[in-house]
Amino acid sequence: MTASPHRHRSAGDVAKRSLRDVVLEGLRASPKTLPAALFYDARGAALFEDITRLPEYYLTRTEHDILLRHAGHLADLVGPKAAIIEFGSGAAIKVRHLLRAFREACAYIPVDVSREQLHDVAAERALEFPHVPVLPVWADYTEPFDLPEIPDTARRIGFFPGSTIGNLHPDEASAFLRRVRDCVGDDGGLILGVDRRKNPRLLHAAYNDAAGVTAEFNLNALLHINREWHATFSKSAFRHRAFFNDAESRIEMHLEAISPQHVMVGGESITFAAGETVRTECSYKYDRARLDRVVSAGGFRVSELFTDAQQWFWVVWLEPV
Ligand code: TRP
Repeated sequence: MTASPHRHRSAGDVAKRSLRDVVLEGLRASPKTLPAALFYDARGAALFEDITRLPEYYLTRTEHDILLRHAGHLADLVGPKAAIIEFGSGAAIKVRHLLRAFREACAYIPVDVSREQLHDVAAERALEFPHVPVLPVWADYTEPFDLPEIPDTARRIGFFPGSTIGNLHPDEASAFLRRVRDCVGDDGGLILGVDRRKNPRLLHAAYNDAAGVTAEFNLNALLHINREWHATFSKSAFRHRAFFNDAESRIEMHLEAISPQHVMVGGESITFAAGETVRTECSYKYDRARLDRVVSAGGFRVSELFTDAQQWFWVVWLEPV
């Protein structure tokens, strides 16, 4: 029941240096892109918390309701002696539905890059669920990491909520699922949150909220670059653009230069034409055919699907093939 993170790698510095390279490469490219990792500084994390409470942003609320309603059924499917491995545990709110329902869980293994939050969350969940050993792993879940020791009798169950899978290109999503499959083994499983394709107007509203919080969240990436690499982005020279790309079945988030301009980033001058955009994030929206394709390329099959009354979101129970 230790709350001290199992240390995976000490590469904070290397990660920071390579993020700079990714930023510059993305800004030199045409069309321009920026890595979504830039969203999650302290202000970005707080803004994202605000997004999850927006009336237009149905995802968090809907997934929460599905988990609340179906946690008992998921517990039956998973069976006793589950070791829940959460990839990117963050505030570890949603997993509480599972921990409440999985009475005989052997372990909860939150995996996260944010060391401090991981530490706090591990301590909180250990207090709240005293019968479940909490074994935090401080690691970037997108890279291989070592699992702590769990009993041989445990069934390893991955947990990846929030439609975070949707922020990966489908090929990357399958590659991620293959790594999860290696991690949980032949008799493991995965509980996955997936946002469904729906009326584009609803999708558009979810990423263009009236209060402008998503715009702030998106623009904050520029301030993050300014702070990290002494760049000269002016927040008021860009605007938030988010739209549904139907052919790719994804929401695209961009920042659009309002007027032509030059911006210094890491000693380099980057030129923007008026109306030129830099893409910051994609959020893929799935139907059953797209889901099955990604899941089977990932070495899993869809064993059970849980949705809400409006059929906006899925919590999917996947088992290895
Ligand atoms: N996975 C969620 C989604 O795609 C969370 C998210 C990632 C998000 N980037 C975002 C939400 C940008 C709002 C804006 O919706």
